[in-house]
Amino acid sequence: MNAIFERRSVRDFLDKPVEKEKLDRILRAAFEAPSAHNRRPWEWVMITDRVDREAVAAMSPWAKMCASAPVVLAACADLKKGDPDYGENAAAGLTAENAAAGEDIYWIQDLSAAVENALLQITCEGLGGVWLGWYPDKGRVRSFMDAFGLPPHIVPFALIALGYPVKTPRPKDRFDPAKVHHGRYGQAGTD
Ligand SMILES: Cc1cc2nc3c(=O)[nH]c(=O)nc-3n(C[C@H](O)[C@H](O)[C@H](O)COP(=O)(O)O)c2cc1C
Repeated sequence: MNAIFERRSVRDFLDKPVEKEKLDRILRAAFEAPSAHNRRPWEWVMITDRVDREAVAAMSPWAKMCASAPVVLAACADLKKGDPDYGENAAAGLTAENAAAGEDIYWIQDLSAAVENALLQITCEGLGGVWLGWYPDKGRVRSFMDAFGLPPHIVPFALIALGYPVKTPRPKDRFDPAKVHHGRYGQAGTD
């Protein structure tokens, strides 16, 4: 799949809206991600309003491009779906900012897979995007929840700023065979 090798983070965007069909396919790709126990604990907030994007840009020093990206997609986790012990954990004081305690909790992996699927489809659509880490930064999580009306069990996990790239970054080969171990850790492969 070439998109995997062509995808690179894009942080500069043209002032050009993204077609609805492309956004639909990006979301559809995200929903096809693998998910532990098939829980699919994701919810998405699509942000296009300029004032809202500027508000998001102000929430993190690493998310300034949200002000100029035509679309910001927030990948959120529904803890009621992603955490089998959510009721007990919430009663014991778990909040969105410190979620992820307990066994059998895979929502971080589930959401990561969905975000990567979205980024790959963004590449396939001739667009560019960048993954913006949100959870577990408590300040970012709280600011986003307050600004966009998230209930306590919905955690803003990561944001994706996307749009038409000003320029398409070149693919890079990052493969490093020294980091692949054969049979035992530290053992090189034979040709
Ligand atoms: C969990 C995670 C959080 C990230 N957070 C940010 C961020 O806040 N701002 C940003 O500009 N890039 C962010 N990135 C993008 C990385 O900087 C980028 O993926 C990395 O430099 C490799 O470059 P590439 O995506 O072009 O391959 C994040 C990536 C990941 C996986």
